[in-house]
Amino acid sequence: MFIGLDLGTSSLKAILIDDAQDILAEHSVALSVERRHDGWSEQDPASWCAAVVTALRALATQADCSGLKGIGLAGHMHGATLIGADDNVLRPCMLWNDTRSHVEAAAMDDDPQFRAITGNIVFPGFTAPKVDWVRKNEPDVFAKIAKVLLPKDYLRLFLTGEHVSEMSDAAGTAWLDTGARDWSEDLLAASHLDRSQMPLLVEGSATSGMLRADLAAELGLPCAVVAGGAGDNAAAAIGAGVVKDGTGFVSLGTSGVFFAANAGYRPDPATAVHTFCHAVPDTWHQMGVILAATDALNWLANLTGQSAGDLSRDLGDVVAPSKTVFLPYLGGERTPHNNAQMRGQFLHLDHATDAKAAARAVLQGVSFAFADCKDALVATGTTLTRALAMGGGANSDHWLSMLASTINIPLDVPKAGDFGAALGAARLGMMAGVGAGIEVAMQPPLAKTVEPDAALIAAMAEGHARYKQAYRVLKDL
Ligand code: XUL
Repeated sequence: MFIGLDLGTSSLKAILIDDAQDILAEHSVALSVERRHDGWSEQDPASWCAAVVTALRALATQADCSGLKGIGLAGHMHGATLIGADDNVLRPCMLWNDTRSHVEAAAMDDDPQFRAITGNIVFPGFTAPKVDWVRKNEPDVFAKIAKVLLPKDYLRLFLTGEHVSEMSDAAGTAWLDTGARDWSEDLLAASHLDRSQMPLLVEGSATSGMLRADLAAELGLPCAVVAGGAGDNAAAAIGAGVVKDGTGFVSLGTSGVFFAANAGYRPDPATAVHTFCHAVPDTWHQMGVILAATDALNWLANLTGQSAGDLSRDLGDVVAPSKTVFLPYLGGERTPHNNAQMRGQFLHLDHATDAKAAARAVLQGVSFAFADCKDALVATGTTLTRALAMGGGANSDHWLSMLASTINIPLDVPKAGDFGAALGAARLGMMAGVGAGIEVAMQPPLAKTVEPDAALIAAMAEGHARYKQAYRVLKDL
């Protein structure tokens, strides 16, 4: 049996699967995000360790875990977890959607070697500019950095005592030579850091360490192998069997992701598409990233005092987009704009715009953001003729149908619940724990396929054009 742990932004999910990949137990622990200033987004790494202990204990009470052979880790990407000598945490972790370092990011991005070596724009959410912000604003903290760890790699340190990362998550730091799958000493030097401050690198499907004996005893678990694991998007892809060139998924999670698996390394930074290593050797992937997907609906829920579930229920049939346009840039946007300072907009409100109409506009605005990501992927030469639909937002049939017509491809909806990244992590745990091959990362059985509605495609494209025009007009205001 194998455990998959997914450190998400709003919760840590743990699943236990048997050798046939049937889910034997699962548990989630809620996590919170601190936003002390506009553009900031932080978590206390101690809360991740407390959550993982609670989750592992819960799995052990639901099932007999004595046959555990492998654990895989997935987690939200790009976070800067700064640790000093003795592995003490130096400050709260700055998360993937923390955009305070946009000035540092732009300066690094102006240095051509970053795009040339990493294959990506240096986005403000990536790790390198955040650490540079610390260098400038918190020099005492910077001076004490012994290691920079990604969030799930800090969990690994807690679980195994090892400082290790893996290729898919490391590719989101802006310090990885993504084609060569190794740290770039030139980029580290340009960031006033060196290799000794980076964790060792393994492939996601390789062993990174063993569960600490004292922790294993405390939790009543065997000292299982801990796999490299993956950043949450690559892990979700392993969970959904998205590994072969031409396969892809859309994820309606806190962030929105349009993901495409690639057989080779195909960077095209000018499109603002991310090009990262996949979680298994010799494979890469591209993705367009939207900073607020379900997070945009959560924002409206907070504002209206209704739950996101209530807001997205009973919306009726999907119709042509109304004139009310919502730009979901609540914390800036990555693909296609790379604009950390843009903020959300609601246009064309009238007396009839009630909470339902606003909710429809929010779902439509996020769907247009996915259409932007699709256009950006197409501009790199990648074509996707269908995609799996994942993430919490995929539970809304209304949203899926709107999205399918907006991006004009069929969306395949898996039968099982939302185990994506945790299942992918468990599969990587299988690969490292018992040497299983990539064939364990099969596609899930489908519940249904949501087809684009031919009668709506032209209206959606018109709405998308208006959405893009709204951004162009408003971005400098
Ligand atoms: C990807 C990204 C997000 C986080 C969210 O580049 O920033 O998808 O990984 O979990």
